[in-house]
Amino acid sequence: MKIAVLYGGVSAEREVSLSTGKQMMTALQEKGHEVVGVDFHPDRLQEIIALDVDMVVLGLHGKYGEDGRLQSVLDMLKLPYVGSGVMASALAMDKARSKQFFQGAGIRTAKELVLDRKLYKEAQVETLEFGFPAVVKPNHEGSTIGLTIAQSLADLKAGIETAFKHDTTVLVEEFIAGTEVTVAVMGGKGAVRALPVVEIVPKNTYYDYESKYAAGGSEHFVPARLDEATTALLQKQAVQAHEALGCEVYSRVDFIVPPDGSAPVILEVNTLPGMTPTSLFPDAAREIGLSYPDMMEELITLSLN
Ligand code: DAL
Ligand code: MG
Repeated sequence: MKIAVLYGGVSAEREVSLSTGKQMMTALQEKGHEVVGVDFHPDRLQEIIALDVDMVVLGLHGKYGEDGRLQSVLDMLKLPYVGSGVMASALAMDKARSKQFFQGAGIRTAKELVLDRKLYKEAQVETLEFGFPAVVKPNHEGSTIGLTIAQSLADLKAGIETAFKHDTTVLVEEFIAGTEVTVAVMGGKGAVRALPVVEIVPKNTYYDYESKYAAGGSEHFVPARLDEATTALLQKQAVQAHEALGCEVYSRVDFIVPPDGSAPVILEVNTLPGMTPTSLFPDAAREIGLSYPDMMEELITLSLN
């Protein structure tokens, strides 16, 4: 099969995407495909069309790659691609809106306050309903870029300013203490399944950019060291979250499991999860016997059906 792997791009997660793209290309070449890698910018679209490929594999993350805009262009060009379509991609990239769908599916979410850059006044955060620590995030970002864990009002205000440098919408959330876990989801319509739960133990105090991508930045336990009931609940809710947003083929759903035995809290769904050497999705796939190249092959097969 002739495959274009799009990677890099212009989002804040460009560096992550360069790594994802490189791994994907090596794996697909190993499987015997003719692979063309393209560091993706809109001015390279003509080039991609001219390649006349059978499949486009998206090694992109974040804005203009993971958020549905590129998926829309590929749809118009009738170029088949791996993963979710326009609507699910756009929705999953919007953390605040996707939380409404998770709640609709009965999945626990953290308390939140959504701020709009045009309307924001400091007075809005002076009496925070859920107190400190609070988590501040750009609403459409990934890889914890622009994220602050605020311990005080001063931290919070500074964190909001930082997050507004990345995004027009900022999400302030209740901090949920607990174990960070993630569930890879894979499968065609009506046959979606959750892979084994991955438990993350970051070297830093939380799973920040360095813990995510530096070699040895975090330890992953697969399957997670959780009881059967919690594992089953996480897997069920991961599939529900994937389906609630209308995701296709694959996604990775992030949760926090509180230590007090209360319900897991969903953080977000990633429609183009990291596939770097330190990433979580390939770890989950390996646990069910899928090597990285086999996992890529499976994602392509699922996308063709
Ligand atoms: N946004 C990064 C790539 C992830 O979720 O894996
Ligand atoms: Mg993410």
